Amino acid sequence: MEIRFFSLLLLPLAFGALVPAEQFFDVLGTGLKEWRLVFRGTAYINKSMYVAYKDGSNVPAVIHDACRKTNWSQPCDTHYRNSDALNHWSNIMEVLFGIVEGGKLVKTIVFNGANTDYMNWFSESHYINSSWPDLRTEPHQFFGISGHDSVNRRFFINHNYNGCPNDAGWVAVVDSINNVPCDWEKDEAFPIIKYAAAEKFENWNTGNFRNADALVVFVKYSSGSSIVG
Ligand SMILES: *[C@@H]1O[C@H](CO)[C@@H](O)[C@H](O)[C@H]1NC(C)=O
Ligand SMILES: *[C@@H]1O[C@H](CO)[C@@H](O)[C@H](O)[C@H]1NC(C)=O
Ligand SMILES: *[C@@H]1O[C@H](CO)[C@@H](O)[C@H](O)[C@H]1NC(C)=O
Repeated sequence: MEIRFFSLLLLPLAFGALVPAEQFFDVLGTGLKEWRLVFRGTAYINKSMYVAYKDGSNVPAVIHDACRKTNWSQPCDTHYRNSDALNHWSNIMEVLFGIVEGGKLVKTIVFNGANTDYMNWFSESHYINSSWPDLRTEPHQFFGISGHDSVNRRFFINHNYNGCPNDAGWVAVVDSINNVPCDWEKDEAFPIIKYAAAEKFENWNTGNFRNADALVVFVKYSSGSSIVG
């Protein structure tokens, strides 16, 4: 049934809009193209990822096709905001947050999309599972898209602060080069997408962190309402 509808060119969603089927991907290898790509943030392009996600005002009008696809080894040098999807945030069953490095989706987090809006799904209360088992058991000092606003740490999941040398966490988008207080987030360009490379939180200075190439967000619609025949 689902496969039949996904083979059509346009998918009618509950809010009445027609959505191109090419925006849907089988991200987790389930055999169903059920995840709609709604955002891709790209590292080191010197444009705020938070602004791109929030309102898209710094996203170019013309986006390279590779930025809208899931072949992660194809080059993409802008942010991509699927404004139709983000501006019509309804009937969302799950949200998939992913980190891309070296042509691979290296980390994922799945969130429950029920009763969310496009700014608040990335939170402890909507968390379902992830590549980091200790996200469920350890405390989170920050867990949000706006993150630590005054220092531009976005899509931020932090475990603790205690002076820069003791800061520890899982994921951060360092979204500025001017206003960054700690050595662990200083670099030549921004945004920097830092993630704990193993399966647990780490000290931001001394831990096993890697800098990713891109951050991606997909949504899965509630099956009863997302696909109507
Ligand atoms: C970003 O800014 C840095 C520092 O000004 C510069 O070296 C780099 O080339 C810039 N990168 C892009 C993609 O604009
Ligand atoms: C992804 O892109 C690379 C580089 O262009 C290409 O070699 C590869 O065949 C593509 N993979 C798929 C599954 O399309
Ligand atoms: C998270 O749960 C989803 C099902 O909701 C599953 O498809 C996915 O593989 C799980 N991911 C991880 C990293 O455990």
